[in-house]
Order: sequence, then structure tokens, then C-alpha cells
Amino acid sequence: MSQNLLEAKNISHGFETTLFSNVHLTLAPASSAAIVGRSGCGKSTLLHICSTFIEPDDGRVVLLGKDIYALKEDDIEAFRRYDIGIIFQFHYLFKGMSGLENIEVATMLSGEPIDEHVFEQLEIKELMGQKIGELSGGQQQRVSIARVLSKKPKIIFADEPTGNLDKETATLVMDVLLAYIKENDAGLLLVTHDEEMASRCETVYKLEEKVLTSLER
Ligand SMILES: Nc1ncnc2c1ncn2[C@@H]1O[C@H](COP(=O)(O)OP(=O)(O)OP(=O)(O)O)[C@@H](O)[C@H]1O
Ligand SMILES: [Mg+2]
Repeated sequence: MSQNLLEAKNISHGFETTLFSNVHLTLAPASSAAIVGRSGCGKSTLLHICSTFIEPDDGRVVLLGKDIYALKEDDIEAFRRYDIGIIFQFHYLFKGMSGLENIEVATMLSGEPIDEHVFEQLEIKELMGQKIGELSGGQQQRVSIARVLSKKPKIIFADEPTGNLDKETATLVMDVLLAYIKENDAGLLLVTHDEEMASRCETVYKLEEKVLTSLER
């Protein structure tokens, strides 16, 4: 039996007030989970906790068998570089560079070859030579998704990856993400407001009244 890619155990966190407590969440290889909930309930915060960026007030996050907040900074850095891919709610591409140059930076850091198939799947192959500043918001979003997939991560954390996209393109992006995790035995943890996108994941969690529950389906 293969171990879970991610186990969040007993997580509690808040800023001025408590956002959530006793959160449990798991992600198995080749599986996907969505987190839904109202704006401001703490979805992005929980995603950042699960992906090494915010140490929770309480609880443990085990990624690929390692208790991440017990690791040294260098080991956390290696996790970010090689094992996890993050699609942020607001994408961070180098604006003065082309799409291809942005991808080259990422693959150089992770040591993976560039896989042009991903550009075709995301329908951005013809745009890769253009500067990021010349692309539409949705095109930039797809370049940032291609950049993450090019790293070949074991776990993808995605915060509203289809937020800027029309339905057809959003469906295309979900197809690509779900195919990636099946082909690579990877995991996808997705935050979304889009119920249709959420329902394509194996597990749907709802964050409500400071509690995370797995929705029965
Ligand atoms: N670094 C921070 N310092 C203080 N408060 C914060 C910080 N990050 C988030 N918050 C607060 O925590 C709450 C939850 O924020 P979060 O971004 O996790 O919500 P969300 O569920 O992702 O919302 P949305 O659906 O609008 O993206 C908000 O009230 C926000 O202002
Ligand atoms: Mg958010």
C-alpha cells in the first residue's frame, strides 16, 4: 500500500480570530481533493499551511512522509523546488520575459526537461515566445500552470486555478491537471468557488464555521 502524499492532522490556525480548528485532510497518490467555502473562511490559508508556507498554530503537516514544519529551512526549500507545485490565486510570472523563458527558469531550478506536450494540451504553444505582459489574463494563467507542471511535482496545490477562465478553458485546465496526477501518481489539492470543478475531484471538503468536513457524495 502506498502512503498518502499529504496528511494534515489536527490543524488549527487564526490571525486576529480563529479561522479553523482540528482540521484533518489527506491526499493519496493519483487522487484529487477540492476545498470549497465562502470568501474569507480561510481556504487559501489552509492551502498555504499544507504547502509549507504558513506554520499552523497547532497540528502537523506530513508531506511525502515528512513532518514539514519540523524540517530545517534547506529541506523545506528542497521540497518547494522539487516536490510541490503551487498555482497561486494571483500568478507570479516574470513580466518582461516570454512564456518559454519563464518555464526555462522553473525547469532549470528543478532539473526537469521541458515537456512541450503540456503547452499543446493547454493550447498555449503558439504563445510561448510572447512576453508575459502581452498575454491576456487567462493566457498568463495557463502559462503559470504549464510552468508548475513542467517541474513535475508530486503534489499540486492550486488556488482558484480556473478563476480567470471561461468555462471551456476552465474545463480544459481541469482536464490537464487531472490527467497529470493520474499519469504521474501525483496529488491535487484544489481551492475553488466553482462547484462543477470541485465535483470533478474525488473528495470535496467544505470549510464552514471553522470546521472542515468532507462532503458525502
Ligand atoms: N497574513 C495574514 N495576516 C492577517 N490576516 C490574514 C492573513 N492572511 C489571511 N488573513 C485573513 O484570514 C482570513 C482568511 O483569508 P483567506 O485568504 O484564507 O480566505 P479565503 O477563504 O481564501 O478567501 P477567498 O475565497 O476570498 O480567496 C481573511 O479574513 C484574511 O483577511
Ligand atoms: Mg483565497
